[in-house]
Amino acid sequence: MSAMTVATSVFSDSAAAVRVLPVDAALAPSVRALQVAPEQLPFVGDTAFNLADTWRDPNSEAMAILADDSVVGFYRLDFSVQAIAGRSLGEPGVGLRAYMIDRARQGRGYGTRAIAACRDDLCLRHPQRRLLALTVNVRNRPAISAYLKAGFVDTGELFHGGNAGPQHLMLLCLIPSSPDPTSP
Ligand SMILES: CC(C)(COP(=O)(O)OP(=O)(O)OC[C@H]1O[C@@H](n2cnc3c(N)ncnc32)[C@H](O)[C@@H]1OP(=O)(O)O)[C@@H](O)C(=O)NCCC(=O)NCCS
Repeated sequence: MSAMTVATSVFSDSAAAVRVLPVDAALAPSVRALQVAPEQLPFVGDTAFNLADTWRDPNSEAMAILADDSVVGFYRLDFSVQAIAGRSLGEPGVGLRAYMIDRARQGRGYGTRAIAACRDDLCLRHPQRRLLALTVNVRNRPAISAYLKAGFVDTGELFHGGNAGPQHLMLLCLIPSSPDPTSP
């Protein structure tokens, strides 16, 4: 399987296949056009800026979220994970930043389902990474709900830096647990 294999998560309750792809020149205009609601901007910032900022950082990857063939969201993979957690996680990790679904496409399950596609993509392209880490503002209920539904665990640690208020540190294990060798 090639390193550019598309990670896809298809759920039976929806017709759209949710995929993630590295942002290239062809996808970039659609990514730059993505918008969040004004009241969501403090949580994520402007996506066109975030794309440019990601491309400037050799330790980051810019990723597009697609529903079928439409670009519906964006995120940044940050491989200098100490910048997310403020410390080593004890295992090789990657940070999830600037995660967003376009305001016109929110509330349809894409935000939750794209985490599964992100996880599959990391297992394919970066199999040595074991943890996905993020921080999320304590007031950002839709994001917290989406992350918990997608399998993230709240570490209970709170970060008080930043302009928008305290943030939870959440972690997702990227390595599927081994099958129980004693089970039939
Ligand atoms: C957070 C975000 C990515 C979730 O994506 P999404 O596609 O809307 O999420 P889902 O459809 O998978 O729904 C996830 C949860 O959020 C809830 N939700 C979605 N949109 C909502 C809204 N506008 N208001 C209230 N709740 C909302 C859903 O009901 C669901 O929770 P539930 O099923 O337990 O009720 C999206 O809302 C977003 O882009 N927000 C702005 C940017 C942001 O805050 N990013 C996170 C930075 S850490």
